[in-house]
Amino acid sequence: MANLKIDEIPTFLVTGGVGFIGANFILQARQSKWANIINLDKLTYASNLQSLAELQNDPNYYFVLGDINNYELVQYILQQYRPDAVINFAAETHVDRSIFSPQSFIQTNVVGTFQLLEASKAYWQKLTSPKQENFRFLHISTDEVYGSLNPTDPAFREDTPYAPNSPYAASKASADHLVRSYYHTYGLPTLTTNCSNNYGPLQFPEKLIPLTILNALNGKTLPIYGDGQNIRDWLYVGDHCDAIHLVLKEGLIGESYNIGGLNEQTNLAVVENICSILDDLSPKDNFKHSSLITFIKDRPGHDRRYAIDCSKISQNLNWQPKENFDSGLLKTVHWYLNNSAWLESVCTGTYQNWIQQNYESR
Ligand code: NAD
Ligand code: DAU
Repeated sequence: MANLKIDEIPTFLVTGGVGFIGANFILQARQSKWANIINLDKLTYASNLQSLAELQNDPNYYFVLGDINNYELVQYILQQYRPDAVINFAAETHVDRSIFSPQSFIQTNVVGTFQLLEASKAYWQKLTSPKQENFRFLHISTDEVYGSLNPTDPAFREDTPYAPNSPYAASKASADHLVRSYYHTYGLPTLTTNCSNNYGPLQFPEKLIPLTILNALNGKTLPIYGDGQNIRDWLYVGDHCDAIHLVLKEGLIGESYNIGGLNEQTNLAVVENICSILDDLSPKDNFKHSSLITFIKDRPGHDRRYAIDCSKISQNLNWQPKENFDSGLLKTVHWYLNNSAWLESVCTGTYQNWIQQNYESR
């Protein structure tokens, strides 16, 4: 393993950094010189090394192929690179896949987080002051741990009781509880963020927004589960990355922070919005992309509404989302139109198998 060239900036061990949010975070971290980065990723189907191609000659970025379940490997990386923070993005993340095959969600999201906590604790306990006081373990989690809201319910706060409804949400909730326990029991300086639905460049096209863009460009149906009136709160990924960095620098240890876009949308509205953007950017004679919309059988246990109350991070850390949904969605569609090679490289046979498994019988 080569040595990372360390400047006078901190070093972060990022896990799952070849996925959607992790890769956006790493690109932002290197562009803004937030940190030197070691990226530990198992390279599951959801990852794409092309996302980080621009860092291939960056001496302050280093990639390690490996699993967060591998305690010895994580220990070795921590000893070798002596990071100032561990940021855990690594996870299985797609709710529909967790319904078909929950095993890997338990293995990575629960057991993997446990192994990462154990290795981080062992490393942190041997650090000397002030490196020990300054160390942080930041766990990236989701609003799905709070369950489902009715139309008039108040938005999720940090003290909303956990009520996960899918195997994915339950695995993330378990991990959050483990992280909390390592702070309370061992004093490990942990932080947790619970964020709403992200969108933007580099998202794997199994999730609603990139799937809709890809299918619409290929003239395929745009599948909408149930009546399309389920609500999600959409946040541009760059705003999420800024929030993560802020929590890392200024968050109170042992605490969790909700992050959201103040942008509740029905799924149908999101898909219609994408269709009208594509009618402008990729017009076809006498054809409206919305004619591809198809209502299909609902997701089992489908949460009706998510909404995030992000007053804690906005009041205590002065964070607000910068991107509005119209400009963010337009940027996102432009990105996919301009990055067809990236898209093609992830739409392999494995991807086609998933599309068949999830959509064929609905
Ligand atoms: P993603 O599915 O795009 O990427 C996950 C990455 O983790 C992949 O690169 C994969 O190879 C890696 N990985 C999986 N298992 C691993 C293991 N055992 N060891 C090492 N690496 C492993 O995920 P994402 O959408 O970027 O989400 C990142 C984090 O943010 C997750 O923890 C997720 O729960 C959370 N989150 C996501 C959203 C969202 O809307 N996407 C919203 C809130 C929170
Ligand atoms: O809320 C944060 C969560 O957002 C993250 O923790 C998850 O990792 C991330 O995948 C996302 O979960 P969702 O289930 O909300 O995202 P998804 O893109 O799968 O679906 C968004 C909504 O769109 C949801 O209500 C289901 C619906 N949907 C999704 C797909 C893939 C459809 O109607 N049709 C589809 O084909």
